[in-house]
Amino acid sequence: DARSTPNVGRASFTPVAPNRVDAVTNAPEFTHNVVIRWGDPVEAGAPRFDVDAQTPEAQAKQFGYNNDYVGVLPLSGRQSLLVTNHEYTDENLMFPTGAYDDATTKKIAMAAHGMAVVTIEGGRATGSWVRADHRRAEHNRRITVHTPFAFEGPAAGHELLRTADDPTGRTVLGTFGNCAGGTTPWGTVLSGEENVNGYFDASGPVDPANATSFKRYGLATAAVTNRGWSSVDERFDLAKHPHEAYRFGWVVELDPYEPESTPVKQTMLGRFKHEGANVIISRSGHAVAYMGDDERGDYLYKFVSADTFRKGGSRAARSHNKSLLTRGTLYVARFTGDGTGDGEYGGAGTWVALTSDTTSFVPGMSVAEVLINTRLAADTVSPTKMDRPEDVEPNPVNGKVYAALTNNSNRGTSYPTDEVNPLGASMTRPALGAPLRTQSGNRNGYVLELEERRGDHTSTSFTWDLFLVCGDPEAPETYFAGYDKSRVSPISCPDNVAFDKVGNLWISTDGNVLGSNDGLFRVPVDGPERGRVQQFLTVPYGAETCGPLVTDDQLSVFVAVQHPGETDGATFEAPTSTWPHTDGFPRPSVVVSYRT
Ligand code: FEO
Ligand code: CA
Ligand code: CA
Ligand code: CA
Repeated sequence: DARSTPNVGRASFTPVAPNRVDAVTNAPEFTHNVVIRWGDPVEAGAPRFDVDAQTPEAQAKQFGYNNDYVGVLPLSGRQSLLVTNHEYTDENLMFPTGAYDDATTKKIAMAAHGMAVVTIEGGRATGSWVRADHRRAEHNRRITVHTPFAFEGPAAGHELLRTADDPTGRTVLGTFGNCAGGTTPWGTVLSGEENVNGYFDASGPVDPANATSFKRYGLATAAVTNRGWSSVDERFDLAKHPHEAYRFGWVVELDPYEPESTPVKQTMLGRFKHEGANVIISRSGHAVAYMGDDERGDYLYKFVSADTFRKGGSRAARSHNKSLLTRGTLYVARFTGDGTGDGEYGGAGTWVALTSDTTSFVPGMSVAEVLINTRLAADTVSPTKMDRPEDVEPNPVNGKVYAALTNNSNRGTSYPTDEVNPLGASMTRPALGAPLRTQSGNRNGYVLELEERRGDHTSTSFTWDLFLVCGDPEAPETYFAGYDKSRVSPISCPDNVAFDKVGNLWISTDGNVLGSNDGLFRVPVDGPERGRVQQFLTVPYGAETCGPLVTDDQLSVFVAVQHPGETDGATFEAPTSTWPHTDGFPRPSVVVSYRT
C-alpha cells in the first residue's frame, strides 16, 4: 500500500545530478508518466492531434502550448480537475516549415494560448494520474484568446478599459501570457497575465495620453511586439485600439467547477506583469493575495480583502468568497536592511498602501487609475526595486511567505545593490566544470523569506531574510539558509514555488545558467534540515520547469514541462529536443511523479 510508504514530503530520495539529458529524470526512488501533451483532446469533439493538419478550431478544443501553472482540484472519489495555463507559443517548433500560411499559424497560436481544465483520474492509491476520457468529462474546457471575460472590481467599466468592441469597458476577449497562478481556498484558480506587452503592435503613432503608461509597461517600442497578431486581429494594433492594452496584465479568476461560468479579470489586484497570485486566509478571516511583477527592478505586492472568508461549500458561501477579490486594499513592498554586520541578509519592511476599493492613497490618481496603471502609482511611493519577482507564496505550515527572485543581470550596474538585492559582481564557477569567472549582476537568483508582523497576513510591516542565495554551492556568495553547502544541490534561477503538507518548499527553475537542464528541488524551511536543497527531478533539454504541485495526499508531484527544445536556432525539422519522444518533435506536457 503506497500509503504506508513515506509520503513525498518526508521521503528520502537520492538527488538528481545536474545533466543535459533530453528526458524528465526522476530521483531513482520515483518515476513519472505524462498526463497530457500539447494537442491532446480536452473538449468533447476535439479531433485527434495531427501536426500536419492543425487548425485553429481543432486547437481551441485541444490542450494548448507551453503549459505553466498547474492546479489540481478534487472532483469526486477518483477524479480531479487539472487546471493549467498556456503561456505562449513556439511557432518554430509547432509547425513544419512552410506547411501553413502566416495567418493560419497566428490563428492556431492564438487558440494555443490561454488555459485548460482537464479531468484526470487514478492517483489515490499509487500517485499516478491519467487524463479521463474527454468525451465524458463535462468540466473539460479550453480558454483561449477569444473567450469572453468579465471585468470585476473598482476599475471595471472605467473609460480606459472601453474600446470600440466593448463600449462598456466590462467585457474583454481572452487571456494570454498566463504564467504562474494559485488555487484559492474557495476552489477557483487565479492566473497571472504576464508578458502581455509582446502581443501588441506599437509601430504606429501613439496618443500622448497613453505614452507614459505604454513606456512603463513595455508597450512603447515596436521591437518587443513580435507576435504580429495585429495582422489577423486589428484590436492588437495600438494605433487603432490603444485601450485594448489596458485590458491585459490582470489576475484572472476561473471557476473550474462551473464550466459555463464567465471567467473574471480582478481589477482590484492591480495591473502589471503578473507572475501569479497566491491567497491565504488570515487569522481574522481576510483573503490575502501575494503577487510579483516579473520585470527587472519591479515590485512585490499584496492585496488584503475587505470582507472575510466564509467556510463551507454551500452555494451562498462560494458565491460570497468569489467576491472577496473585488474589494480591499492593494499594497506594495518597501524593504530596509539592518546591515550585514550580523552575517545575514535580512531586515524589516513595510507594505505601503496604494489604494483601497474606495480611496486612492496616491495623489493625483483615482482608485481606477491606480489599479490600471499600478506601476506608475507604485513608482510614486518608493518601493524596493527587486530582481524579477516571480512566484510569491505563503507557506500554510509556518505562515511565512516565500518569493522567488529569479535573476537580474543588470543588478550592480543600472540597479544599485542593497541588502535585499546584494549581488552585483561576483565570482562564480559553473557547476559542470567551467573555470571560475566574474559574473555581473544577480545571475542565479534568490529565495526571499518574509514574516508578517505577529504572523498576521493583514499586517503592514514584516521582517525578511534571504533564505537562499542560489548558484553553485562551491561559489563563495551562495547561501543555503546556513545549511552545509557540501550537502546541497546546485540551483539556479528559481521561478515557481509550492509547499507540501509538511511545509517543505518546492522550487522549480527557469534558465539555469550553471550548465544543467532546469529542474525541481525540495528544501525544508524549518528544523535541522532547513536549507538542505535537493534536486527532485530535471526536465528535458531547453525546457523550463513549471507548476509545481504536490497533492494534498502527498503521493504525487505534478510538473508542467514548458518549451522543451526552445534553444537558439532550433526548428521543427531540426529540433534540439523531441521529448516526450512520442513524435519527432517536442510537445510541452504535464507530468506526474510518484514513488516506484
Ligand atoms: Fe513567465 Fe515570470 O515567468
Ligand atoms: Ca542583516
Ligand atoms: Ca514563471
Ligand atoms: Ca521565468
